[in-house]
Amino acid sequence: MTLILAALDGELTTIRSALIKPEERDWRGLPVVCGSLPGTRGASTEVVVGRTGVGKVQAALLAQHLIDRHDPERIIMAGVAGSLRNDLDVGDAVIATATVQHDIDVTSLGFAPGAVPYTNYHVVACDPLMPSIASRLVRQARERIVTGIVASGDQFIDTPEVRARLARVYDAACVEMEGAAVGFVAHVNGVPFSLLRIISDHANGKAANFKEVLELAASRVWHYLSQMIPFGEESDRVTAQEE
Ligand code: ADE
Repeated sequence: MTLILAALDGELTTIRSALIKPEERDWRGLPVVCGSLPGTRGASTEVVVGRTGVGKVQAALLAQHLIDRHDPERIIMAGVAGSLRNDLDVGDAVIATATVQHDIDVTSLGFAPGAVPYTNYHVVACDPLMPSIASRLVRQARERIVTGIVASGDQFIDTPEVRARLARVYDAACVEMEGAAVGFVAHVNGVPFSLLRIISDHANGKAANFKEVLELAASRVWHYLSQMIPFGEESDRVTAQEE
């Protein structure tokens, strides 16, 4: 079973409408839907789809609950992000190679920016499967798809100064508010984690029409994920590397 998470309902609309035999329930006010998703080559995959709400705490909370309850084989988080690279525009995709919490800062005690003090957790690697599939998607896509580090924190970034700092300090491609929290929980539980982000803005205060962007992001998320089902097929890794 694959666990699919997003922060907002608007990021999940296309996935939810593609679900076969959806069964919806509620956990502590958060909607969770079980079902299966159709994929390529006639295959389908069992999924649980959860909406975490915004921010690292809520995201970690639902991720841990759904891991305990469903024991997923993998977790995929998807949604929007602010671009930290000048060559990434609205609608482009970032597939995370790793995540980092940009708002944990104990540098005054000598810890590196983003390091979780007294642990080995700093920049947490994602499952290499999705970045390896990215090379196949890149050739078929009209929009730009890149792989890179995703920085997460409990702020909506909207100033050029903070944007420049995050890009420089973390070498991150984009910024959002949940990915590193779910990546951390997944890592601690030994569950492979993938993160797909569609650029919604430039993290500089000049945000586009958010409602329209959410619709665009939801359709792009499903466009890419549907090409990856059944997730985790060994042939995908081989094909991507051989091409
Ligand atoms: N998600 C989408 N855009 C964002 C931004 N600029 N900062 C934080 N999270 C975001």
